[in-house]
Amino acid sequence: MHSVLAAVALASSVVPAVLAQGVPLASKHFTWGALPYQADTDTGERGTQYGYNLCNSTTEGPTSLCQTAIINSIDDFCLWGPPEKDSLIGNVEGESVAWCTKPGYGTRIIPKGAITGVQFMKTPDYIQVTGRITQNLINIQADDSGGELDPHGADQRGNPLGGLLFSNAFTGQFVQAVEWHNFMGGGTFCLKACDPAGPNAARFCEHIFDRIGCAYNAPAAYEDGAFLSCEGANQDFPGIYTDAAGAVQTYTQPPESLGPISTMPYQPRVPASSNCVTHDVATLWSGAPTASVAPASSSASGTLTRTTSRAVSTTRASTAGSSATGTPNGASSRAVLSLGSLVGAALVAFVAL
Ligand SMILES: *[C@@H]1O[C@H](CO)[C@@H](O)[C@H](O)[C@H]1NC(C)=O
Repeated sequence: MHSVLAAVALASSVVPAVLAQGVPLASKHFTWGALPYQADTDTGERGTQYGYNLCNSTTEGPTSLCQTAIINSIDDFCLWGPPEKDSLIGNVEGESVAWCTKPGYGTRIIPKGAITGVQFMKTPDYIQVTGRITQNLINIQADDSGGELDPHGADQRGNPLGGLLFSNAFTGQFVQAVEWHNFMGGGTFCLKACDPAGPNAARFCEHIFDRIGCAYNAPAAYEDGAFLSCEGANQDFPGIYTDAAGAVQTYTQPPESLGPISTMPYQPRVPASSNCVTHDVATLWSGAPTASVAPASSSASGTLTRTTSRAVSTTRASTAGSSATGTPNGASSRAVLSLGSLVGAALVAFVAL
C-alpha cells in the first residue's frame, strides 16, 4: 500500500490531474466556524464523502454523520467509529464518523461506560488520548482487532474521506490539527493530534506504521480503570528507536504479503509523564447517553498468530483464526502483536489500511 502511496505522491507533482484528483486532505486548511458542508469534494474511485463537516444541533445524535472531530481535554474529545452497528473498522475506514464524549458538536456521543480507562496527554508537540474502550458500544465488532484512521490514504483523501480534527488545546482557540492518527481496535484506542505549529507534526503523527497499532504509534500505559490528565515529554517518532548498543534505528514495517508481524525488534519507549490529575469517572462525560446495546468484551487474548480477514461484508471470513486469502480488496491478513506490559496479556492487531 505504501509503495503505492509513495508513487502517487511522487507522480502527483508531475501529472496531478491524473493521479491526484484534488488537493490532498492534509494540505487543506479550514477555519472553525467557517467549515464547508464537506471538506472532500472529490468523486474518485472511493466515491464521495460519506458524511459532512458542517455539524450542528440538528445533526447531533445516534444517526449523525458528522466527520468533524475534536480533541481538547480528558472530558472533551472524539474518536472515529463506524456509522453502522457491528462493523469492522477496516471495512469502514473511509466512512467513519465522529463519536464524542460530550454533546455540542453535532456528532454522535460515546455512551456511558464505554470508555473504561483514559489518559489525556499534552506534550510540547502534540496532545493525545489513549485508553481502553468497550468498542461494540461505538459500532465496532467486539472481536475486531482494528485499524488506523488518518488524513492520508493512498488517494490522499483521508480515512475517513474528508475527516477533520480540531483542538483548542494548542492556542486556546480552535485550530485544525492537520496531522493526526487514530488507532481503534482490540478494546484499545489512541488518538494523537499534532500541533500544527510544531516543526515535526507529520513525524509525530506518522501514518505509515499502520500495522503495529497504539503500542508503537502512541506508547502509553493503556490502563483500565485509570482516568488521568497529564503533561509529558514527547515520544520518539513512531518507528524510531534506540537499540541496546545505543544506536538510533529506524523500523521498517514489512509488507502484508510477508504475512502477519509476529515479532518486533524493539519495545517502544513510554515517555515520562508529570502533573497527572486523576478524574472521577462518575463526573466525567456527564452528558453521555446510556448505551442502547449490551457491552461486549474485546479482550483479544489468544494466539500470537490470529489473523482476520479484511474482506468486505458478505465475504468476510470469521475473525477466529481464519486465514484470509483472496479477499476482494487484496489485503490478506492483519498482524497481531503482543503489547506485553502495555495492556497486560491482551493482544491487539491492526489492519494495514
Ligand atoms: C446543520 O448541518 C446540516 C448538515 O451539515 C446542514 O445541512 C444544515 O444547513 C445546518 N444547519 C444550519 C442552521 O447551519
